[in-house]
Amino acid sequence: MPAEPIFRLPTRHLLGIEGLAPPHVDAILDLSETYVETSRRAEKKASGLRGRTVINLFFENSTRTRTSFELAGKRLGGDVINMSVEASSVKKGETLIDTALTLTAMNPDVLIVRHPDSGAVKLLSEKVRASVINAGDGQHEHPTQALLDALTIRRRKGRLSGLVVAICGDILHSRVARSNILLLQVMGAVVRVVAPTTLLPAGIERWGVEVFHDMRRGLDGADIVMMLRLQRERMDGGYVPSPREFFHFYGLDRDKLARAKPDALIMHPGPMNRGVEIDSIVADDLDRSVIQEQVEMGVAVRMAVLDLLTRNLQGNEPPGGVPAGSGR
Ligand code: NCD
Repeated sequence: MPAEPIFRLPTRHLLGIEGLAPPHVDAILDLSETYVETSRRAEKKASGLRGRTVINLFFENSTRTRTSFELAGKRLGGDVINMSVEASSVKKGETLIDTALTLTAMNPDVLIVRHPDSGAVKLLSEKVRASVINAGDGQHEHPTQALLDALTIRRRKGRLSGLVVAICGDILHSRVARSNILLLQVMGAVVRVVAPTTLLPAGIERWGVEVFHDMRRGLDGADIVMMLRLQRERMDGGYVPSPREFFHFYGLDRDKLARAKPDALIMHPGPMNRGVEIDSIVADDLDRSVIQEQVEMGVAVRMAVLDLLTRNLQGNEPPGGVPAGSGR
């Protein structure tokens, strides 16, 4: 049985990393460690969600995030429903809020929501009684990805504070980058971003990160090399010349990796574009790449978040009964 968490999250929702303080992050990661153990046993069941209903509501494609939330909910003994948006009334023109209200009438305890628009998940959280977890909203945030990345790093390096983390590639379109920058900075890591100007958000200098356009310089002495997928589905024009040219300048290969520390970890949230942002030789290098470990940590972190959030739910208070805020 996982240890009783000594801690509750400050709100009923997890909409972003913004607003989480180091003790919150530590508590989530500590509880996640116990769920890593649970998930490695033959008998993987815990009971934190017994009697609870969780709905996975995905308005955008997902493989690992949806599956790992589903596994997490089931390993905690909850009932998990996957809502297929393709087959739902959304295709018939029902609005986001109508969908949310319809689902609310079914009394779920947790809604896990992915949506292509930044801010859509927060809007939805203000209309429903359930706890809402942001599983990725547009280019905004993807908090459980940043938490699972932090868990992966902490387990390998023993700490987050003081590490140099280079986040490389399509920062502009990446909610993973945004959540990771927030979390790593709050935990005392030094964050670099490595990308062409076209793939950096305006005003990136104000995020407190070090900006590099030359990948070799950006990787110099890095402890962690975090690669991002080139998100071509969010591009409507000439952000990058060609995948081949992108790989030449910004793809992670052995040569560029040699600039990082000899024990630097290679990370990628998936799905990978092999030969575009990362060479298979380094992605599959089991001495350096922790990409599969990230997937394993994803289930444990999502179990911890589901557990901690549902501890805040008594019955289902009416909307407005507990401030939805912005997840803080
Ligand atoms: C990421 C996402 O959906 O934001 N993937 C994930 O959650 N594992 C990154 C991506 O799609 O490139």
